[in-house]
Amino acid sequence: SAPPCTLVVFGAGGDLTKRLLMPALYNLAGSGLLSEELIILGLDRLDHTDGSWAAALTETMESFTHDATAEFHAAQIDPRAWNWVRSRLRYLKVDFQDSAAYATFGSRLRGNVVFYLAVAARFFGPIVTQLGAAGLLKEQAGAFRRVVIEKPFGSDLPSAQALNREILAAADEHQVYRIDHFLGKETVQSILAIRFANSIFEPIWNHAHIDHVQITAAETVGVEQRGAFYEPTGALRDMVPNHMFQLLCMAAMELPETLQAEAVRSAKARLAEAVLPIQPEDAVRGQYTAGRVLGQDVRAYREEPRVAPDSRTETYVALRLAVDTPRWAGVPFYLRTGKYLATRHTEIAVQFKPSPHHLFAGAAGSNLMRLQIDPEQGAELRFDVKVPGPEMRLGCATMAFRYGDIFPQRPYVGYETLLYDCMVGDATLFQRADNIEAGWAAVQPLLDAWRSGEPEFYAAGSTGPAGADALLGRDGRSWLPLA
Ligand code: BG6
Repeated sequence: SAPPCTLVVFGAGGDLTKRLLMPALYNLAGSGLLSEELIILGLDRLDHTDGSWAAALTETMESFTHDATAEFHAAQIDPRAWNWVRSRLRYLKVDFQDSAAYATFGSRLRGNVVFYLAVAARFFGPIVTQLGAAGLLKEQAGAFRRVVIEKPFGSDLPSAQALNREILAAADEHQVYRIDHFLGKETVQSILAIRFANSIFEPIWNHAHIDHVQITAAETVGVEQRGAFYEPTGALRDMVPNHMFQLLCMAAMELPETLQAEAVRSAKARLAEAVLPIQPEDAVRGQYTAGRVLGQDVRAYREEPRVAPDSRTETYVALRLAVDTPRWAGVPFYLRTGKYLATRHTEIAVQFKPSPHHLFAGAAGSNLMRLQIDPEQGAELRFDVKVPGPEMRLGCATMAFRYGDIFPQRPYVGYETLLYDCMVGDATLFQRADNIEAGWAAVQPLLDAWRSGEPEFYAAGSTGPAGADALLGRDGRSWLPLA
């Protein structure tokens, strides 16, 4: 189990704490992975006592038993595991901007501490600076002090660089755990195993055999109540340099020398740095208009709460990028993500080239490997077979693997591994400063270009704007159907 520590949660009254951190701690407690000496110290500006904070969290935990749409849906909360967490909850009312407060709660901290910043992004830099100034990040007598930072990390390359500078002035890189929750998803973590633990994939995982790669993160949710956040953000900033680039790195990185965090993170950073800056002519932005999603009528983005009626913010992005390494010479990577699309579907699809000899004239080259992340979790491999009958005709067959069929698991929210890893000090699934900055550097030309111009409209519930199809059509290719 994890070593003894105090988990200090900044933003104890916030949504992330309720929806993800507490269910994740509960699941970890249920699996016996936490230290008996764990203390969870919640900090926020709200008036709470230890007891009233615990009571509020108990209520939300219980609501998950009848909310099938929550990230965490439990048929029943196991009272033993929840009481275990509950008995360790402590609360302090703190104003994060008040430097005197840091000395006050800091005096309660001994030994190992993980500071979890479940707060709005504007507080990341100031909180880390204050923690540093109060001496709370000093690692003494073998005890660790770590800071977990949520997303969004910057809003462009200069702001991400400035935030890294600010954080690294107070903490050492080894103390900083930058979260990208896509790395907490099981199949994302499995990509390394699939690619490198099997001898049949790695030899063909390159430009000699791969025609192109499609990475999709299609959502059926709209912007919901997040208009104020989403308006200055848009789909590009929200999804591409972070989540989609993490998928890209996992799918395309070179073999790391070891599975140690630094080796894996260096391999990923090298890949991200090899992405050529994406040019505006290689990208398409879209914005949803009213439509029907999963049988429900939904309004246009411009009519969403706290969204400008003439907003130019994109809710969809498709782009083509190139990775400038010998492995990927000439192989395009196509990325697309959007809100209110026809289906929820996150995957990496690797399209192999057709067979080089023409024994089977007309063979379409159907070899396709799909690494499925959400909502299915698994992998599929498509290949040609002979259609039964007297003639030699080809048909397409698919081998499919579903995680749940082979490895039944309790419902995880995706934060369990990440929380556990920052307690045990494994930074493999966290983003290093160079990786984050490389993501922003690659999309910076689009951020610059998209200060003007308009997104293309697409109907909510469709597969995205026509321009996205044209982007691939230009290369004689098409998107896989959003199935
Ligand atoms: C978040 C974005 O980081 O990721 C959201 O801010 C997006 O806009 C979400 O909906 C997607 O995550 P997931 O795990 O639901 O695919």
